[in-house]
Parts: sequence; structure tokens; C-alpha cells
Amino acid sequence: MKKNKFYVTTPIYYVTAAPHLGSLYSTLLADVSARYHQLAGQDVFFLTGTDEHGQKIAQAAEKAGKQPQEFVDGFIPSYQEMWKRYNIAYSKFIRTTDQEHIVGVQQWLQRLIDQGDVYKDFYKGFYCTPCETFVTEKDQDKQGADVMCPSCGRATTEVSEECYFFKLSAYQDKLLQFFEQHPDFITPKERLQEVISFVKEGLKDLSISRKTITWGIPFPGDNTHVTYVWADALNNYLTGIGYGTNEASLHTWWPADLQILGKDIVRFHAIYWPAFLMASGLKLPKKLLVHGWIKVDDRKMSKSLGNAVDPKQLANNYGVDEIRYYLTRKMAITQDSEFRISDIEQSINSELANDLGNLLNRCSTLALKNNLSMIEPPKQWSDKSKVLHQECITMIQESRKLVEQGYLYRAVNRIWEYINKANAYFHEQEPWKQARSNQDEFAETIAATVYSLHSIGAMLWPVMPTKMELMLSSLGFEWHKSDDMFVHLQKSAWTVSCTIKKIETLFQKIEITKESNVEETKVEQKIEEKKESYLQFEDFLKVDMRVGTITACDEIEGSDKLLKMQVDFGDLGQRQILAGIKKSFTPDDLVGTQGIFVVNLKPRKMMGIPSEGMMLVASDAQGLQRMIPAGDITPGSKVG
Ligand code: ME8
Ligand code: MG
Repeated sequence: MKKNKFYVTTPIYYVTAAPHLGSLYSTLLADVSARYHQLAGQDVFFLTGTDEHGQKIAQAAEKAGKQPQEFVDGFIPSYQEMWKRYNIAYSKFIRTTDQEHIVGVQQWLQRLIDQGDVYKDFYKGFYCTPCETFVTEKDQDKQGADVMCPSCGRATTEVSEECYFFKLSAYQDKLLQFFEQHPDFITPKERLQEVISFVKEGLKDLSISRKTITWGIPFPGDNTHVTYVWADALNNYLTGIGYGTNEASLHTWWPADLQILGKDIVRFHAIYWPAFLMASGLKLPKKLLVHGWIKVDDRKMSKSLGNAVDPKQLANNYGVDEIRYYLTRKMAITQDSEFRISDIEQSINSELANDLGNLLNRCSTLALKNNLSMIEPPKQWSDKSKVLHQECITMIQESRKLVEQGYLYRAVNRIWEYINKANAYFHEQEPWKQARSNQDEFAETIAATVYSLHSIGAMLWPVMPTKMELMLSSLGFEWHKSDDMFVHLQKSAWTVSCTIKKIETLFQKIEITKESNVEETKVEQKIEEKKESYLQFEDFLKVDMRVGTITACDEIEGSDKLLKMQVDFGDLGQRQILAGIKKSFTPDDLVGTQGIFVVNLKPRKMMGIPSEGMMLVASDAQGLQRMIPAGDITPGSKVG
């Protein structure tokens, strides 16, 4: 194993359509991570590719009137061209129809068969083709005669067939032990908790072959079966670096340092995949980075986006680096994020063009106008410059740490905080006055600003490689082939001599598409900068709160907390609502009074009794108080 290496992967995408914003997002995060580690002087291997087998693809091909191979071949250029367009510098593009992959998967299966981790039995259950997964019993959501998939909500098909099983259940304890010993296995941490709870509920053996389909990797020793698509696909992370074909390469790169994926496929990557690896005697990946969804508000989309949500169109309209920046910084990894054209435009104008572009432009224009092109450190830095320098170093350290944790958007936020500081410094120094009054002070202000921009440019290079190379070359920055750029930036970046030259505008301001959106976005953005945990107003509006009159109330046998109420909501009708308020109220306290209730929560059962809403209460050390209207009001009235 190489010491100073970084191996990063993306999910391999189903090739039933061209890449979209979501596939671009995961791939971009991998590219940005790869570039950061390259900056740190590491050898990087970045794997991406396509998932081409299985029922879903076979069905799509049939619908298109094509053979599966011909069908999948047709999509490959759209992926490779898109990644090229977005400057995504992967090391290898793997396809699960590649011969090396097929050989590797078969070898892997053979090993599992030989060591007794695989057996043949009958499977009876429900299969979700869009997700290519069996729905476990505890996840089944029955709607009439249909069993719905818990992940995508579509109806599943009942299957009963002979298949091969992997002894997943045998790995339950080992997995739990691993999670316990590696609390940082998943970023963000909360996702690991979900995985642990799932495993604790008990793992069943996993079906790893299908008999009723033919589009897949033939199962070793039994060609009436093909390999289940996840047992095929997950192994791409190994075959892509040589499993089964190139041992030396495999051991150079494995284990993966970072595996990026969306939250839809966390179970496959955090449970099946580690179990497969344990069975193979291989190490587990160091970290999974699990991100949320990019969402598009349908109503807004049809109006302002049109087909612009096609990543190619976005790049044409706004520029590759601008979109790379927007996606990296504005889509929070930890949660779902709304994609908005107005946000892209706002980011370009106020952050890229104003905060960064203007600083560069004003600094270099002013310097060159005053015949200052050779930049050198002053004999002695002033206190203000020293503070700025120290802040620059802290920014590098902190953002590097965030990158290592996988929080790329926070790293960019952190860099931006420093851009704002550099701007403030530049303003306060008033170099346009210094140019007339004190040449040394003027030269110092320009030098400190140029050195700041050197660090900013290098730190943002992984996000906006083309623009930052342009900016850095205009600022005479020398790309240090040192082992670690971060070390260089901290140690010597403020001591170099360099020559600056003027460049064309770095970021072109653009005309905002929808005037009415701008003010709104500005406010939203300011709030977002402060704290990302703010609730969006639209989300708040989704909560339907109503006044209800409690018409009956009973205790529940066996519960010392719950009371069961019948609540009248006027036009909305009568509802049964349970609340954990028995310690503070008796049924007599409640009947005939009004309360405030959330009425659009998914109905749920408590102690086996359905509840169709939630009562609002406040609590302190003394106990509970109910939220009630100050005067009588028609039941069913909206609150908000
Ligand atoms: O699941 N927002 O492939 P897939 C953010 N072949 N990310 C999104 C997204 C969105 N709206 N939509 C998709 C598969 N993604 C399997 C994977 S891996 C061994 C096999 C991204 O084409 C995200 O990373 O359905 C998600 O996990 C992935 O695309 C799913 O891609
Ligand atoms: Mg999917």
C-alpha cells in the first residue's frame, strides 16, 4: 500500500438516461476532493463509471427496442462528455460490462462460494426494480394489494425463485463492532446512527443471484443464474483498481479513502459492502461521504429553468467553474438542498464577481496604475497585516480540516470568510490614499492583498480550477511542486517575490433573470451564511396547524403518559389524537377546551393506537402547559 495516496470513488450510475444534476453533484464532490488531495501532494486515484446490468436496464433497453449492450453503449459518451465539460479529472471510467470487471466479480464470488459464505435456497419476497432491491419484511408498506418500496414509493413485484444467498447475518456483530470502533466511518455522523439501528434490528441473508433475468454476470458454476446487480456493482470499487486482474495495483490503492454517495444507497454501502469486504479479507473503506438530495421546486422549474437544469445548458449559460462553485458551496452535504437559478445568479454576482473578482481587480489595477508590478514582502509587517496573515494561516488549517472530514461546502464557506476579511483589510488601509502619501505602506497593502489572493486562489483551485489558474498566473503565483501545498502556503507564501499583470475580468456579472427573486434571495443568503440550520420559509408553510376543540378524552390502559383525545376540527372533521400529557392533565381538564394541533403529520401508532395529529405544548421544570387560543375561535381555524 502506498503511504501518501488517496483513492476516491463515486457511485456508478445506472445508464438508463444521460447524467443529470444529481449525478454531476456526486462526481463533482469526488473531483473537488481528489484535487484537494492532489494539492496536498498525494497520489490520487479517482474512479467513476456506470452500472450497466440488471432488470432495470434490461427493461429500459427492451422499451427502446434495443439489445441491452447496444442500449448501454449509447449512453456512455453522454457521461464521458459531461465529465469532460465540467473538468472532472477522473483516473478511470469503469463500466460493469468491462471484461476485467466481469472476471473480478466472478473470482470474488468463487472465493465466497469456496469458503462457505454462499448457499442456495428459495427466496420469496417483493422486488423493487427501479431500486434493484428486495424489500425486507419490516420495511414493507402495504397499500391495498400492493407492497410499496419504502425507498421510492413505487409498487414492488412479488417474486418467488431459487437463488444464491450470501450469509450476511453472520456479519451482524462484526459490523456493529466496526461501527463502534470507527465513529467517523460516515460523514455526516447521524447517518451512521441510522445504519447502526438498522443492523441492530437484525440482518437477514442476502440474495445475490437472479434466475429470471439474463442481463448480468453469469454466476460461477451455475449459468442458470446471473449475479444480483448490487453484488456486481459494489465490486466495481475493487475491480476498477485491479481486483482479479492486477494485484499490485489493488494493493496500492485499496482501501478507498473516500467513497461518495447519495443517501438513497447508504444501506448498500454501509452494510452490504463492508460485509462483502469482510468476507473477502479486505480492509473497509476509510470513510463514506453520504450527501442529501438536490431538489428542484417544480413550479419554479417550469417557469424560470426550462431545460436549463440540464447540466450542459447550465454550463453554457453560466460557466463551468461558476456551476462547480455553486454546487460545491450551496448544496449542503448534510441535508437536502433546493436548486435555484436565482441563487446561481446571485452567487455569481455577489460572491464571485463582487467579493473575489473585485478584490483582484481593484488590487491589481491600483498597483499597476502606480507602477507597482514587482511584489515583495516589506521589511517589517504592520500589526494589521500580521493579523491578516495569521487569519490566512488559520483559514488554511481550518478549511483543510473540513475537507478531510468531507465537509467541502463548509470548507468553501471558511475560505469565503477570509475573502471578506481580506476585503475589509483592503478597504481600511485605503491604498488609493497610501499611493499618494506613503509608498512603503502602499506596497505593503498590495503585497498583503496579493499574498492573500495567492492562498485564496490555491485553496479554491479544487473548486474552480480554470478560473483560479487564471487568477494565480496573473498574480505571478508559482505552483510549488512541494509535497504539500498547504504547508507551503502556511510557511512561505508571504515571503515570495512575484510579478503581477492585469487580466480580463475574472467573473462576468450577469443580468438577473427574474428581478423579483433577487431581494428575496439576498435575504435568504445572508441568513444562510450565518447558520445553515435555518428552516426555509416554504418548509415552515408546509406545517398545517389548526385550532381544535377536544370533545372527548380517555386514558389508555397500560400507559402512564398517553391520553387519547377526540378532536373536532370543523370542516376538517373529527380526529383521534394521542398526546403524552397524562402526567400534567386529566381528561376532565381537557374536554370542552380548545388546543392547537399539527394536522398534516403522517398518522402513526402509539401503543398500537392510531394518532392523526400532534398537540402543541410547552414544558419547563414544573411540567407542561398547553398552547391554547386566547379566545374562542371556530374549530379548524388555521394557525400561522
Ligand atoms: O443507485 N441529488 O445509480 P443511480 C443528489 N447504480 N444526488 C443525486 C441525485 C439528486 N437529486 N440523483 C442522483 C445507483 N444522485 C446505482 C449505484 S454504486 C455501486 C451503484 C446521485 O444512477 C447520488 O449519488 O440511481 C445517488 O446515490 C446516485 O446518484 C444514484 O445513482
Ligand atoms: Mg437511483
